[in-house]
Amino acid sequence: MKIQIINGPNLNMLGVREPGIYGSSSFDTYLMKLRDMYPDVEIEYYQSNIEGELIDRMQKTGFDSDGIVLNAGAYTHTSIALQDCIRSLKCPVVEVHISNVHKREGFRHHSFISCVCRGVICGFGLDSYRLAIESLLVAE
Ligand code: DQA
Repeated sequence: MKIQIINGPNLNMLGVREPGIYGSSSFDTYLMKLRDMYPDVEIEYYQSNIEGELIDRMQKTGFDSDGIVLNAGAYTHTSIALQDCIRSLKCPVVEVHISNVHKREGFRHHSFISCVCRGVICGFGLDSYRLAIESLLVAE
C-alpha cells in the first residue's frame, strides 16, 4: 500500500507557525511517528508553497498511489485548479485540515476541493493525517 501525503502553502512552517492553532511539532517529527505506526504502508511526503507544484505532484502520484492525503492549506479556499486536478486522478484523495476550519473565520468555511475528495477530516490536530490514512486503509 502506497500513500502520498501532500502539504500545501505554509505547512512547511509547522511547529513555528501559530502554534496555538497548529501545534508545536514539526511535520518531519510527526511523519517519523506516522511511519512507525504504519510499517507496512509506504508513506511518501511532499510539500510545496506553489499551487502548480502541488498539481504536478498529484498528477505524478495520483495514478500509482493507493490514496493521497491532501492538506491544501489556504488553496483549499481558493483553488478551482486543484479541484480540476483531483477530478482527473485515479486514486482517492482525502482532504485534511489540522485546525477545525469551521470554528474559524468565515472565509475558511468553504472548500473548493471537498466536492471531489473521498472525505474530509479536520480539527484533530496532526492526528487528522493518521485518521485520513485509517480511512484509506479501511476503504481498501
Ligand atoms: C489548514 C487550514 C487552512 O484554512 C489554512 O489556510 C492552512 C492550514 C489546516 O490545516 O488547518 O494553511 O489547512
